Amino acid sequence: MDILLERHLREVSSPANLKINDQIRRFRAFCREHGCARPYHHFAFGQSPFSPPPPVIEALKTHATQHDYLPAAGLPELRTAVSDFYGRVFGLHCKADQVVVGPGSKELIAVALAVLDGPVVIPTPSWVSYLPQARILRKEVLPVRTRREDGFKLTPRGLDACLRTTAARQKILILNHPHNPTGCVYSGAELSALAEVCRAHGVVVISDEIYALTTFDQDSFVSMGRVFPEGTIVTGGLSKDRSCGGYRLGVAVFPSMPKGLIEDVLKVAGSTYSCVSAPIQFAALTAYSNEPEVTAYIRDCTFVNAAVGRAMGEMVGAIEGLQTQAARGAFYLFVDFNEYREKFNRIGITTCGAFTENLLKVEHTALLSGGALLLPEDDFSVRCSFVDYDGDQALRLWRRDPPATTSEERSFVHEVAPLVTDGVGYIARYLEQIRSGETPRHQAS
Ligand SMILES: Cc1ncc(COP(=O)(O)O)c(C=O)c1O
Repeated sequence: MDILLERHLREVSSPANLKINDQIRRFRAFCREHGCARPYHHFAFGQSPFSPPPPVIEALKTHATQHDYLPAAGLPELRTAVSDFYGRVFGLHCKADQVVVGPGSKELIAVALAVLDGPVVIPTPSWVSYLPQARILRKEVLPVRTRREDGFKLTPRGLDACLRTTAARQKILILNHPHNPTGCVYSGAELSALAEVCRAHGVVVISDEIYALTTFDQDSFVSMGRVFPEGTIVTGGLSKDRSCGGYRLGVAVFPSMPKGLIEDVLKVAGSTYSCVSAPIQFAALTAYSNEPEVTAYIRDCTFVNAAVGRAMGEMVGAIEGLQTQAARGAFYLFVDFNEYREKFNRIGITTCGAFTENLLKVEHTALLSGGALLLPEDDFSVRCSFVDYDGDQALRLWRRDPPATTSEERSFVHEVAPLVTDGVGYIARYLEQIRSGETPRHQAS
């Protein structure tokens, strides 16, 4: 039988980060079976390296018996806990009925895109999933390139210029900070300047704040929901700072939006996924509580993550010909290899994807190619995650003996994250071969 598929999905590719993650798992298993002792350095996936906070795990066990369907908007007590959390932690005050709980913030972003009218402005480089979501929903996409000299932040001028290219009455901006993949974080003043442009042009902002509590300087994060409450939907969840990506629980907060919008969101939610798994919602009550152990967990994991991110930034920045900027939050470093373009081309590597494939083959080191970040394939810029280490061991060590100086912090990172630090060495070694005009091949260390 001839099964006909929706044609517009030919334009959508599966998330490259998930594909590489599966590939690395298979490669690691293959090497184990075939006696290859060379480790894989996995810089291509952005999953928290820590186990979830112990009280959240306990709460999940306790509530394994919860099996009823719950309201599409989420368990009422959880919506209250989330609204309290946003008020307490981010100074973003809203009521429980302005919170919607969903199966991950990714899904809630897709639902928001489904209900909002207008083209979607996506600053690039960008997280891998916004473009496919917009394409699945057949929405017009307006990419806007951010620049190194602006710290890869969207500027009011860049936004304004992009908005002038469309006649649509309403536009949707997806703003993400701390940013995946560049690690940039916006100040309150920068957000206010963007909000002015949004007000002038009729822009609704989906502010993807899933990494808010991974901001290295923990008190410096400002939510767009505070700055532009009348036009912002804030999304967040448990996946990053509470290390519960696979639990699949995210939240959307509507600080001050017409009721009809939330009603439409709930129509889509109720008609597609019904509700988030009940035991997970009960466990999330603890994750959003004011319990000191959870608060300390978020703080300490962020200390560890920031230490690894800073060390990686320094190490990568010291490699000849690479450009990067220090991450200020999230799990990523954005690295520019364009100085090597000609040398890559000379040995037949003409796209960023070909370079990352070759590096993976030669040095067992995986980076996420710029194509997945909405960059042209001939732009040799990549995302480099710094989370491939045993987070639990690192957290234990940090708590027992927190580094007091920069040099202690570097030693700590070398001790707890050897795959990260060694992996940077493998990238450097690969580039040495490129510099000398050789076709890279693995060299036993
Ligand atoms: C920028 C960004 N937004 C959203 C998500 C999705 O988070 P969730 O697990 O809540 O769906 C991720 C996860 O990688 C992300 O990096």
